[in-house]
Amino acid sequence: MRQNLLRADNKLLNYPIREVVTIGKQLETLGNFKMIWENIGDPITAGEKVPEWIKTIVRDNSTTDQAFAYTDTRGYLPTRQYVLDNFSDEKVCSVDDILFFNGLGEAINKVINNLPREARILVPSPTYPSHATAEAMHAGCSFISYQLNPENNWEPDLQEIENKVKYNDHVVAILVINPNNPTGSVFKRETLESIVSIAKENDCFLIFDEIYHSMVFEGVNNTLLHEIIGEVPGISMKGISKDIPWPGSRCGWIEVYNAEKDADFQNFIKMILLAKMLEVCSTTLPQMILPHLYDAPEFTPYLASRITKYQKRAEQAVKLLNKVPNVRVSMPGGVFYLVVELLDLPRSKLTSKTKTIRLFIDNLLKEAGEEVNADFQFCYELMGAEGVCVVPLSGFGSDLNGFRMTLLQEDDEVFTETLGAIRRGVEHYYL
Ligand SMILES: Cc1ncc(COP(=O)(O)O)c(C=O)c1O
Repeated sequence: MRQNLLRADNKLLNYPIREVVTIGKQLETLGNFKMIWENIGDPITAGEKVPEWIKTIVRDNSTTDQAFAYTDTRGYLPTRQYVLDNFSDEKVCSVDDILFFNGLGEAINKVINNLPREARILVPSPTYPSHATAEAMHAGCSFISYQLNPENNWEPDLQEIENKVKYNDHVVAILVINPNNPTGSVFKRETLESIVSIAKENDCFLIFDEIYHSMVFEGVNNTLLHEIIGEVPGISMKGISKDIPWPGSRCGWIEVYNAEKDADFQNFIKMILLAKMLEVCSTTLPQMILPHLYDAPEFTPYLASRITKYQKRAEQAVKLLNKVPNVRVSMPGGVFYLVVELLDLPRSKLTSKTKTIRLFIDNLLKEAGEEVNADFQFCYELMGAEGVCVVPLSGFGSDLNGFRMTLLQEDDEVFTETLGAIRRGVEHYYL
């Protein structure tokens, strides 16, 4: 090519949740075995059957001609009204402050990429990689982050947030993922209120990714941004991927709060809308179906039974893994993930299923050299020896070593076996 087509900042672009799959697939072929995929937050991939009532609603509502048409750039109006009435609050938001996207993933990119290059978003660490990667690509350098503390149930370090916001004028927004991916923690109301105060005092806005807002375990209270935001400008991010569950619908939205309270913020939101206009609109069909799914009499008991299942899985995993030396796990408050921290992680090896797998992993590590983080190495070894694919914690923009597994496995026996395989893998790795 007459020009170099690779961006200078290409190394910033990565998505480890799916990248480990590429390696896992190669190992599967080499060793002729079936991997247990614990990497992705997709209930359907984990074997959850889509209930018949969901399929019927989708079928019944896909026959109108309107379902085949473009819709408003902001999104299908009756559904935006539904979202306002059911998930948001008129005190801080109007129907025109709700914008639909093709998945929250798109919303994340549109929001971050429409900020001026020098405007930075403070993101949590560990974090959901789409936010961190979009922030880094947007700025052309590493993302800036605040720590979630594993010794304090993964609550954020408020002092660090305050310092990073106060002493860096480029920070214009604080991102909170609550309930949290990857840690599964549900932050205390006081913590969230303090973050709102920090934003207010420093003239910043808030982004709360609340896609897991309904995935909260029994006895845990979740606080939504619209309940505590007061007059601070902010964005709540939600979607249907997790609670319906229909991640393949690619249907997410943002609720903009207090847009009119700040002219700069309002202009930024206009940019997001204009950028969306260039694409015309998001897919009409899932938007039209959304209210029917949430309003179905089956929905609430179905969601409750799923949450109970994840809670049971979390309790089982925490009980077992906390007995393993060098491992630290805390009981999540919701969601369907568990972060397993591996303390003082060595560079070690596990006995691979076959010689070819051993050679493949050795080559992989040799080619990448020092660039492979210790927990990536552990995850490759675990795949090669135990046939379980998890995502390295450092892939979530964390300096800590460990991995994230899901709690989605449908089959009780397979889940118990998976935990056993993980336990064995960790114990042998430290020998
Ligand atoms: C915290 C968080 N935000 C956003 C998304 C993206 O969701 P969507 O499927 O709507 O793109 C995910 C998906 O796993 C997520 O975990």
